[in-house]
Amino acid sequence: MSNFLIPSPQLYLAPMQGLVDDVMRTILTQLGGFDACVTEFVRITHTVHSRATWLKYMPELANNGLTPAGTPVTMQLLGSDEENMAVNALNAVACGVDRIDLNFGCPAPTVNRHEGGAVLLRNPHKIESIVRTLRQRLPEKVMLSAKMRLGYDNKNLALACAQAIEAGGAQLLTVHARTKVEGYRPPAHWSWLAKIRQNVHLPMVANGDVFSLHDYRLIRDISGCDDVMLGRGAVMIPDLARQIANDNAGKSVMPLSWDDLLPWIAHFFQLCRYKSDNPKFAVARLKQWLGMMKSVYPPALILFERIRTLQQHDAIAIVLRDGANHSEIQS
Ligand SMILES: Cc1cc2nc3c(=O)[nH]c(=O)nc-3n(C[C@H](O)[C@H](O)[C@H](O)COP(=O)(O)O)c2cc1C
Repeated sequence: MSNFLIPSPQLYLAPMQGLVDDVMRTILTQLGGFDACVTEFVRITHTVHSRATWLKYMPELANNGLTPAGTPVTMQLLGSDEENMAVNALNAVACGVDRIDLNFGCPAPTVNRHEGGAVLLRNPHKIESIVRTLRQRLPEKVMLSAKMRLGYDNKNLALACAQAIEAGGAQLLTVHARTKVEGYRPPAHWSWLAKIRQNVHLPMVANGDVFSLHDYRLIRDISGCDDVMLGRGAVMIPDLARQIANDNAGKSVMPLSWDDLLPWIAHFFQLCRYKSDNPKFAVARLKQWLGMMKSVYPPALILFERIRTLQQHDAIAIVLRDGANHSEIQS
């Protein structure tokens, strides 16, 4: 098995279905600080996905699997039928994918009813079988990782699941420090990450509730993991990864102001306009992002209110362009 030597500390952008698509990856990796990112999960059921599907989830395949900023993208798969997952994974590899991540944490009822995602955390043997099958069938050069929660309704099998992922032959493990039933409710149990880290030997990425540089330092201290994945915090504070990377490099940390962020938001809106023929798409994505930023940047709420009733893209683009000139939405 080839050795995947990844220098630490690595900073990963979390997979977030409906939130971190290629457009968000483009913006956040251009803002800087991330070493790698992951697609939204691709559900594997009975069929074999076409090239068009892989490209839909990962348009970066047209750019050698890199975002425009040059950040590598991993394809995430979710399923429970190891044979069909292997066939699909090989098919994705034939389309250019060279990093595959397995989802053992999705809480969605539809997914769990079909034995995918977090429900598998009740069955470490099945997890091991899925990881092993994929590792055996994929070319050595393809990096295989897995992402898990601490359990389904309790944490009794957390270590067993992590060890199953290691025994199956994955090269990297990300742990979101909550069970499925804990959803996204604080707190994330960072001390559990330390327990797992002490019991597995593969590189481990700590994940859950990092919303500041302070949280980042704390999760590393408590978990003992050098590598960290940022999810919602990266969307709410778009330069959080850049702040962290600068701090790790011993550089000064100057958070971006709201005025600094406005051109990025306008660029995001433009990219969303190009991405979909559905005129509602770009508006919905813009509102979604502003909605997440408003707890950190009060001007985001004012901007949200200003565009709330607008439907015309051009009118919204003008508000975004002129945003910085309106005193009431300056930070
Ligand atoms: C809207 C949303 C969608 C998500 N979609 C995925 C997904 O597709 N695959 C996955 O492994 N995790 C998914 N997650 C979980 C995140 O990757 C991450 O583990 C979780 O949000 C905890 O990290 P955070 O506290 O930094 O957000 C999702 C989370 C959210 C909030």
